[in-house]
Amino acid sequence: MDKLIIKGGVPLKGTINVSGSKNAALPILTACLLAKGPVRLTNVPRLRDINTTLKLLNILGCETTFEDNVVTAQVKELKPEAPYELVKTMRASVLCLGPLLGLLGEAKVALPGGCAIGARPVDLHLKALERMGAKFILDSGYIHGICGGLVGARIMFDFPTVGGTENLLMAASVAKGCTILENCAREPEVVDLANFLIAMGARIRGAGTSVIEVEGVRELKGCEYRVMPDRIEAGTYLVAGAITDGELKLVDCPLEDLDALVTKLREMNVYVEKQTDGTVLVHRNGPLMGVDVVTQPHPGFPTDMQAQVMALMCVAEGSGSIQEKIFENRFMHVSELGRMGARITLKDRTAMVRGVEHLEGAPVMASDLRASASLVLAGLVAKGTTEIQRIYHLDRGYERMEEKLSAVGAIIRREPE
Ligand code: EPZ
Repeated sequence: MDKLIIKGGVPLKGTINVSGSKNAALPILTACLLAKGPVRLTNVPRLRDINTTLKLLNILGCETTFEDNVVTAQVKELKPEAPYELVKTMRASVLCLGPLLGLLGEAKVALPGGCAIGARPVDLHLKALERMGAKFILDSGYIHGICGGLVGARIMFDFPTVGGTENLLMAASVAKGCTILENCAREPEVVDLANFLIAMGARIRGAGTSVIEVEGVRELKGCEYRVMPDRIEAGTYLVAGAITDGELKLVDCPLEDLDALVTKLREMNVYVEKQTDGTVLVHRNGPLMGVDVVTQPHPGFPTDMQAQVMALMCVAEGSGSIQEKIFENRFMHVSELGRMGARITLKDRTAMVRGVEHLEGAPVMASDLRASASLVLAGLVAKGTTEIQRIYHLDRGYERMEEKLSAVGAIIRREPE
């Protein structure tokens, strides 16, 4: 396992290119199972989770190649089973339920375990697919679904689940008849998946709103598609520019998908603006001020930016609060930030953060993807050296992070643990 060593205190200056979106690429890769012809995806980030998904596609009978951020996929002969040893490493594997049930009428997917940030059940996925005619049994840790062909239905999600909306978009695209999905997730990554499905010939209206209509078609064809830029990676680097009191220019930064984050950063006295050349400039605009944040489904404040903004609040003047309303255990970074001198108290699902003069470098442990990013950000501003262990969590969602940070002045290196 690798670790990152960071010597803090350097204001980052320069340009960072934002990579393709992990959370758009994962469902889009799974949707390749639906294509009758060859698919070519560009702007695919080189990440652990992408490699895991490509392995899963190969096991399910879809041949793939991945080079220079380009994926090609061609279904040869679909198989219904997604094995536990893959699914246990990446919850997003459950997204193959929709395509497999839609095309094969059968799917056998290991029940994804919980993860560091919560139990993360898939009950909403299953309930919705049952409305379309699927039947599920739980058999030795596997969800075994069968159906005699999915039929369009009217479905209301109890919660705007991102994965649930994505699974049902894929299933409904090849179901018989029309499906109306209500209380859908409105995340930009859901819209990117819908646009990809439409490029393959799906008939989808309303993606990005809470009501999506899908008219099932018999067959989806291959196509070429560019994955959207990663708004959470971009948001992480916006915070990096602010926390180090530097000045960063982001290329391919989807600012329009980050309204709630940008509003909070501006409240904290951070300058964030798209420039005439299309890049996004970020720097401090005076002393950082504490704010109050509540994570919500999109377009509310993204839970995937909660840990990163907490690191920023640790060195702001005054205090602020963060209420995590999406996941029940997404504060694993709090104790590690505390080891660096942060003053954070937890009460239920709310963290109270009191800004400190400065953080102290220390050895810390990554626990999940965004907690790792939060520790990197804290290390960049802390006095002294920070050592972050178990950064395989980071590699799941950030392409070449230490290279991108070194290129703008960070003193950061990767070493074996
Ligand atoms: C997606 O996860 C993202 N992952 C997550 O990003 C993100 O945090 C999350 O959406 C919320 O925005 C990918 O896109 C691969 P949900 P997903 O279904 O689909 C509960 C990252 O850091 N729930 O909207 O799993 C669930 O337990 C990752 O990049 C049910 O109870 O999110 C959670 O508390 C982390 N039953 C909440 O809803 C269900 O059937 C949100 O889940 C489904 C979900």
